Amino acid sequence: MDHFQLKEGVVHAEDMPLSRIAEEVGTPVYIYSRATLERHARVFREGLCAAGKVHLAFAVKANPNLAVLRILANQGYGADVVSGGELERALAAGMKASDIVFSGVGKSRAELTLGLDKGIGQFNLESEEEGEMLAQIAADRGEAAPATLRVNPDVDAGTHAKISTGKAENKFGVAIDGAPDIYARLAKLDGLNLRGVAVHIGSQLQSLDPLERCYFRIGQLVTDLRKAGHAVTHVDLGGGLGVPYKPEENPPSPMDYGAMVARVTKEWGVTLMFEPGRVIAGNSGVMMTQVIRVKPGVHSDFVVVDAAMNDLMRPAIYDAWHHFEAVEPNGEKMTASIVGPICESSDIFAREREVDQVKTDDLGIFRTAGAYGATMANTYNSRPLVPEVLVDGDKYAVVAERIEPATIMAAEHVPDWLK
Ligand code: LLP
Repeated sequence: MDHFQLKEGVVHAEDMPLSRIAEEVGTPVYIYSRATLERHARVFREGLCAAGKVHLAFAVKANPNLAVLRILANQGYGADVVSGGELERALAAGMKASDIVFSGVGKSRAELTLGLDKGIGQFNLESEEEGEMLAQIAADRGEAAPATLRVNPDVDAGTHAKISTGKAENKFGVAIDGAPDIYARLAKLDGLNLRGVAVHIGSQLQSLDPLERCYFRIGQLVTDLRKAGHAVTHVDLGGGLGVPYKPEENPPSPMDYGAMVARVTKEWGVTLMFEPGRVIAGNSGVMMTQVIRVKPGVHSDFVVVDAAMNDLMRPAIYDAWHHFEAVEPNGEKMTASIVGPICESSDIFAREREVDQVKTDDLGIFRTAGAYGATMANTYNSRPLVPEVLVDGDKYAVVAERIEPATIMAAEHVPDWLK
């Protein structure tokens, strides 16, 4: 359920007509709904009620906007970060250092040190080598870094290959079969307080089955580690829950997920940690665009819009579907391909799809763009970096400005020896 609805002929975000944002801020633009973000944060937490002691860490990569992170901090969420930049953002947004988990396969020495400087709650180690580096840095400071070992359970998440992370051929974590030996060696190091394991098998999961298979294996590993004398107090079960991109899609709900987690982890006796991203932010945002012109094509018309693949990368790189709607629909439909102005054939949002009829200057939205939308935007073709707006009831604020090419050019330099 989200708060982007048609009211009196115009799509609104909560009580704000999107046409007003287009007039005042321009397009393309991302629009987030505070009420939707808060609702999703609450529903996810409620879903896990039955699972005992839980720690929720929003996956910052899904939507790192400071205002969005502040909303989630106010909902009691910590952060799952994968870079020094995300760590600084989470802190700047008001998340407590102790609520921050640092994931990622390539944490550098500088990033590990930053995590220790800030006193973050947990490092999810992705290799023995990373554990040794962190242990050494922490021991030199007379500290023991709180950490878990991320394991790769070799489970097929059944999602797009580019967003699967839990198969043996993926770079993430250590192979589950070798995990007990690595765990034993790392647990001996002075600079580490190794307190459990972490796992994340992929994103946009449409079924609970692979998650359940994965968690079952993690349960066996926890038993084995305890038999070997380790105190396992924390298990991080990652993120991954899918959202509906098409109206007919029906991914598992947070309630179903929570019930499965409660059943599988009943005997574990640990603090369970979660790293949801998409399920919180996905349907909380849309990207609004304006039609530049409609151009006849051989197979169907092309609707050329002012947003492009640099603003919303997902269709170009994952063949992702984002539902398109006119902001002021006239009730008619057309079959068209919706494309951006970039000089690549991958700059296409919808291929010969039946959509609301639109013409030059009409506004449209791509739904479910609140996760992995603006965060993946770039300035290819020297386009501006897309702005972001947050709506709260009948008011809105620009929470990220449009960054014009002139600002980006100002950071580039032609060396004297070329002048
Ligand atoms: N934790 C870890 C360690 C992750 O790698 C990810 C996502 C998450 C949590 C959050 O997963 P979520 O709950 O959002 O599924 N750009 C892609 C998605 C990449 C996801 C990468 N990792 C897309 O647009 O679909």
